[in-house]
Amino acid sequence: MSTSGTVTTASPASARRLREGAFGNAVHLVCRECRSTQELGPFYACQECFGPLEVGYEFPKVTREQIEAGPKNIWRYQQLLPVPSDITSSPNTEPGYTRLIRADNLARELGLKRLWVKDDSGNPTHSFKDRVVAVALSAARELGSTVFACPSTGNLANAVAAAGARAGMKTVVLIPHDLERPKVITTAVYGGTLIAVKGTYDDVNRLASEIAGEEEGWAFVNVNVRPYYAEGSKTLAYEVAEQLGWRLPQQVVIPVASGAQLTKVDKGFTELGRLGLVEETPYKVFGAQATGCSPVAAAFKAGHDVVRPVRPDTVAKSLAIGNPADGPYVLDVARRTGGAVEDVSDDEVRDGIGLLARTEGVFAETAGGVTIATLKKLVEAGRLDPDQETVVFNTGDGLKTLDAVADRVGPAATIEPSYAAFTGTGLV
Ligand SMILES: Cc1ncc(COP(=O)(O)O)c(C=O)c1O
Ligand SMILES: [Zn+2]
Repeated sequence: MSTSGTVTTASPASARRLREGAFGNAVHLVCRECRSTQELGPFYACQECFGPLEVGYEFPKVTREQIEAGPKNIWRYQQLLPVPSDITSSPNTEPGYTRLIRADNLARELGLKRLWVKDDSGNPTHSFKDRVVAVALSAARELGSTVFACPSTGNLANAVAAAGARAGMKTVVLIPHDLERPKVITTAVYGGTLIAVKGTYDDVNRLASEIAGEEEGWAFVNVNVRPYYAEGSKTLAYEVAEQLGWRLPQQVVIPVASGAQLTKVDKGFTELGRLGLVEETPYKVFGAQATGCSPVAAAFKAGHDVVRPVRPDTVAKSLAIGNPADGPYVLDVARRTGGAVEDVSDDEVRDGIGLLARTEGVFAETAGGVTIATLKKLVEAGRLDPDQETVVFNTGDGLKTLDAVADRVGPAATIEPSYAAFTGTGLV
């Protein structure tokens, strides 16, 4: 597990007394392996077995009306997140409430009856990472952290740098040195400290864990405040259900890097059912990876419970995590729900970007290309039921990964500014 390591114990943050309601309706942290509980704080590994921790709640009665009356961002689900009831009063990027598009053209092309695209490129820094970072920022604040930090494959870097800037907090962002240039620029522009590391994301992640163990008061969003951070992805599930008129889809296709997002979408759907906010109808969760970094898909296909780390080599850099922390839990969710984890080649990723753009006018980044291509592959293989209502996630914006398709698209002709030249092209 890439985020394992020493249990964070004494630091100024943990010594600090939490204010009443600092984590909303969250009551403790629960080990995802042995289910033992521990107090809320800057902890991410179980004191008993070193397993990863997640947030546990005692929810009050929550109604659809309460949620619908809330702000048009993820804080409408404040009662279901580990954030205080006054969360909207502290500066943050206010992500969420992104569009759910009925994708009839793509559905027709793939032979599906009813398909939706949850388009998270509409977030403040153009990926779903704004959701998780907003929740992590709240945790960092409540814990009294002084530095807001992350190791990132790109989109998280954008989100942390922007959220830190808005919150007036010092940020330190670590990225692999070979990231796409737009992702470097769209992080650096917010100020803060951006450090490129000569290594893969997994090397960067290891370094971040080491720094988190050495430095006091640093909140690495996806390392030592990971339990809180990950909860932000539940809002994707909540929004999809609410936008469908308070019901669950039958199939969802979700990209997998660390796997946190996929597992928390499942948690979100489950919570909605338990709270009586939707009917508890069955749903299947499908994970999508690029073949050049597909350790979870490989484990799924081999019937393994453990995920063997790989060295990534794919155009989908945002998903290039060779040692995914939530990999085994992704396998659990896919198997329990009757879904699958599939992978697609880099050419299929580029085709997937083109297919979504051409059919629905949505320009996805490479992660979205992975997801659309996986959707197509699953339908063609008969593993995804074309008659069941399906939601596919576009989690990032194509403007950040232009190079992936730059060689494939361009003007049909370059002409002189005359009508004769225009008709002469024979194009229209
Ligand atoms: C655009 C995009 N989609 C999906 C993911 C996968 O997220 P997770 O690590 O939660 O699996 C990432 C991760 O960086 C991403 O950048
Ligand atoms: Zn444990």
